[in-house]
Amino acid sequence: MLYTNPVWIGLGAQTQETSGYEQRSRHDPDGIGRFYFGREIARVMGHEGAGWLERPDREESEMPDEVVAQMELRPTDTVADIGAGTGYFTFRISRRVPQGKVYAVDIQPEMLAIVAERRKQLGLNNVLTVLGTDRDVRLPDDSIDAVLMVDAYHEFAWPREMMASIHRSLRPGGRVILVEYRGEDPAVPIKRLHKMTVAQARRELEAAGFAWKQTKSFLPYQHFIVFVKEKK
Ligand SMILES: C[S@@+](CC[C@H](N)C(=O)[O-])C[C@H]1O[C@@H](n2cnc3c(N)ncnc32)[C@H](O)[C@@H]1O
Repeated sequence: MLYTNPVWIGLGAQTQETSGYEQRSRHDPDGIGRFYFGREIARVMGHEGAGWLERPDREESEMPDEVVAQMELRPTDTVADIGAGTGYFTFRISRRVPQGKVYAVDIQPEMLAIVAERRKQLGLNNVLTVLGTDRDVRLPDDSIDAVLMVDAYHEFAWPREMMASIHRSLRPGGRVILVEYRGEDPAVPIKRLHKMTVAQARRELEAAGFAWKQTKSFLPYQHFIVFVKEKK
């Protein structure tokens, strides 16, 4: 089965108005029943589906090399690929930051084991794996130049806490690049909970203190949305 069951954790004392969260008993079977600013959070893709992340048709449908080129990285940058999965994007980023480094962050150790094995095969020393939690990326504060999240944000169980943690990890002026299937477009052949609209993405990331910078539309099915942690 592709999707694992999420671990349920209570919402605690915060109200919906202050947290953005809401729990509903009637919900999409692809979701966990928790809503954030009205969007239902999707179930996490289990590591049993790792092979699917490496499917050959992604080259055409998700243009990974172009995604990484459009990140406009400098060779010395420190980058975090959050929800890295098998490292499909991590290793492409690694080539672009020869004097920098890339953290592959995931909550599934099985995914990180795949990244570590490939890193060994390729003999790379600028790829680091980090086992995060569903609320914390566990990266050093003020250390990251750019964060990439591809097809991952919509399944963060605690997006508010995750984005606060990412905000802390970024240097002032650091960027978050969010790649998600276009929720506005019914022709995109992806489950509803695995898509996001630009308006929803802006609502959620602006609530976490990020400023929207631009939305690039070079991908066949996805948005490439750039947010910035503004300098004070
Ligand atoms: C659909 S996969 C995408 C993987 C990769 N970005 C790609 O495009 O090939 C989503 C990944 O996000 C991870 N994930 C989900 N919630 C996470 C969280 N809160 N922090 C880090 N990773 C998370 C999952 O474990 C899974 O490996």
